[in-house]
Amino acid sequence: MAETTLVLIKPGGVERNLIGEVTRRVEARGLRVTGLKLIRAERGTVEEHYAEHRERPFFKDVCDYLTSGPIVCMAVSGTNAVKAIRAMMGATNPVEAAPGTVRGDLALTIDDNLTHSSSDPEAAERELKLWFPEGTVG
Ligand code: CMP
Repeated sequence: MAETTLVLIKPGGVERNLIGEVTRRVEARGLRVTGLKLIRAERGTVEEHYAEHRERPFFKDVCDYLTSGPIVCMAVSGTNAVKAIRAMMGATNPVEAAPGTVRGDLALTIDDNLTHSSSDPEAAERELKLWFPEGTVG
């Protein structure tokens, strides 16, 4: 099924010059980049993005982190894009992420797990509206 999902490359990924590596993997898989921008995220946008985690102990730290430097916002479209991207990024905790995944190959700690990707189609719709209010080309 044709879908569009959101990928964020977090400040650590941008700092480590991994924009190209992450994007290369997405495109090599056969998915299409249908929205792309490098921004400094507003605190309010990040807090809304992570609203489901508001009561979790890591909420403040993850919001601090996402606003600590530039991030890449990417809309990715294609067949089963939501599930395909989640699998490609690997488990949230990089030490549990399989080799061959972005996190399994390029990250080590949950606090700096390189990317965020939408968990399901409903989250994707909500997150794409939040990060791409201007729309995408998908
Ligand atoms: P992400 O997929 O962006 O969603 C929430 C983020 O919070 C997660 O990736 C991690 O970077 C961060 N985080 C920190 N600690 C935890 C935790 N214990 N469980 C889930 N996410 C965590």
